[in-house]
Amino acid sequence: MPISVTAHGRVNLIGDHTDYTGGLVLPMLLECRTEIVGERIDEPLWLLRSDAEPEPARIELPAKVPTNDTPHWARYPAGVLAVLAANDIEIAGFRGSVTTTIPIGGGLSSSAALEVAVARVAIGDRAVDPTTLATWCREAEHLASGVPCGIMDQLVIAAGTPGQALLIDCRSLATSPVSLPADVDVEVRFVAPRTLAGSEYADRVADCRAIEQIIGPLRDAEPAAIDGLADERLRRRARHVISENRRVLEFVAAVAADDVETAGRLMTASHESLGADYQTSNPVMDRAVSEMLAEPGVLGARMTGGGFGGCVVALRRRASGKR
Ligand code: GLA
Repeated sequence: MPISVTAHGRVNLIGDHTDYTGGLVLPMLLECRTEIVGERIDEPLWLLRSDAEPEPARIELPAKVPTNDTPHWARYPAGVLAVLAANDIEIAGFRGSVTTTIPIGGGLSSSAALEVAVARVAIGDRAVDPTTLATWCREAEHLASGVPCGIMDQLVIAAGTPGQALLIDCRSLATSPVSLPADVDVEVRFVAPRTLAGSEYADRVADCRAIEQIIGPLRDAEPAAIDGLADERLRRRARHVISENRRVLEFVAAVAADDVETAGRLMTASHESLGADYQTSNPVMDRAVSEMLAEPGVLGARMTGGGFGGCVVALRRRASGKR
């Protein structure tokens, strides 16, 4: 019986670099997606062919924690299969192909989509809730890329619906859908390729750990808690995370009240905070945001995701009528 699964890319509307301290995020699935099509085989082996790569990924079962698999992207499926097996999911052999319309290295979670798609194939008919699946895929990402990411990407891909934002509480892992007003569009523009592996992403995670050693959980911190930090760099990082968690709530309230101007302003404020305090933007991304802000109907714009490149996202008022 042929098997076919999909997993969509995501954009984050607001709430960046808050997930790994149990904060709030508001991502949304996009139409672009990764698809795996194939069939089970009787050998203890996964063979995945990708249009974009000359070599198929060949993963012998039981899959090991990925080391030097070739091609490089084989680390992701190998990581997922290893984590699932460690959680007592029996993995059958599989042969198939992977195609994607998610730009690779564009900051729209192509790796998380691949992980979720592989997990969906491997899990088959078994009932696994999206939160568990996302937790496993996140662990696979840690193993495969070494990036100590949070849960946002895997969870929205596992639990979200395209076109609808999903508020995620990264501490409780509770999710709730958020509809955007009908008179705005979310626009995503690719600016520059990036990879989080080897970037300063891990340094930011380490900064947050250091902050929490001093002032306790960032999720619970009030702005005044920043006064308890002597180090200027840590003060800035904390100011971003504390203010960003608030902006997510304010954004959700604004869209619920159809106040799209406020929602847009919050997105732009988020970008400024990421640039000035979290220092994950750069001149190229700043310029792309400024250019978008100058366009007609744009209410707010920001870099989205891990930073250091990738895409910008904007909220734009529709020129005419409702959806
Ligand atoms: C990357 C990570 C996510 C999150 C964002 C920043 O996309 O994978 O876990 O930390 O960066 O918000």
